[in-house]
Amino acid sequence: MENIAPALLDWFYANRRILPFREDPTPYHVWLSEIMLQQTRVSAALPYYERFLAALPDIPALAGCEEEKLHKLWEGLGYYSRVRNLQKAAKIVCTQYGGQLPADYNALLALPGIGEYTAGAIASISFGLPVPAVDGNVLRVFARLYNDPRLVTDPQVKREFTARVMEHQPPAKAGDYNQALMELGALVCLPNGAPLCEQCPLGTLCRARAAGTALSLPQKTPPKARRITPVTVVLVLNEGRVLLQQRPAKGLLAGLWQPVLWEDTTLTAAETAARLAALGLDCTGAHFTPLPAAKHIFTHIEWHQSGYFLTVPEQPAPAGCVWAGKEQLEAAYTLPGAFKVYKKLLLTKLL
Ligand code: ADE
Repeated sequence: MENIAPALLDWFYANRRILPFREDPTPYHVWLSEIMLQQTRVSAALPYYERFLAALPDIPALAGCEEEKLHKLWEGLGYYSRVRNLQKAAKIVCTQYGGQLPADYNALLALPGIGEYTAGAIASISFGLPVPAVDGNVLRVFARLYNDPRLVTDPQVKREFTARVMEHQPPAKAGDYNQALMELGALVCLPNGAPLCEQCPLGTLCRARAAGTALSLPQKTPPKARRITPVTVVLVLNEGRVLLQQRPAKGLLAGLWQPVLWEDTTLTAAETAARLAALGLDCTGAHFTPLPAAKHIFTHIEWHQSGYFLTVPEQPAPAGCVWAGKEQLEAAYTLPGAFKVYKKLLLTKLL
């Protein structure tokens, strides 16, 4: 295989998207963008990226941000452990490295939430170090380029792909080369549906294109089945406010806020009333109106939600709960995307 870098870089310089983290690729900017871009498309992440940096312009600001504000800045992106790790790492960077990310692949890799890919992206794009940054895009490009049918999720196979990526990397242009591969995967060597091989700068070298196998590569294992969890959600209302509870500090959606709910069970109205009473809530005279069903898919779990809304007499919030009005729901408490349907209902119809 001849070296792909010259054709790839020419294509990249002519076709790359103008992205804010490319305009000013400081280590902090590249770090933040790469964390946001895990699980989130570029177009969806951009407004969050701008807002996040406006609020927290540097690593010390991130390290010192109050937790509720941090969650609010991430609201809508999901996978909140990403932002908690971001802050954990920022605190370490402040105590160990004077608030600047280290120009060292292994030191980056040792930080919470920074894996091989993110360490490689920061090290190569911001510091110009000749290291790999191999994400799903890059694996797809190389599976096709070499017409290699092996499973890219296999760690040994991934190591061999990474070695090939490095055979082609020009050490003085490591960051551009790594980004060019990602960009080719994002714009031309597409994951779903037909890749745009006529537009590809590597089209004449691509062995999968020659063999007609591009569409079926890379080979993937079928995703694991998710566990289905029934959830009963209760919108407890009083005078334009809803009762919210904070989730436990560990586990799924740690520390975020939610309506009163019970996981692993679909409760009848009578059962729900009994549970609310056990919380110490006075539901005298309340009418339980069914909520629309809603589904939310997490990585390993699928929530099938249903429940009720009801209006209760004025009373203090039970332990661990708060009464939140419309404004607080929008500005103060982060309700994760799992409750999108019910949050919308609250904001448009109930509060
Ligand atoms: N996806 C994730 N990171 C990217 C980057 N730096 N350029 C293009 N696509 C990406």
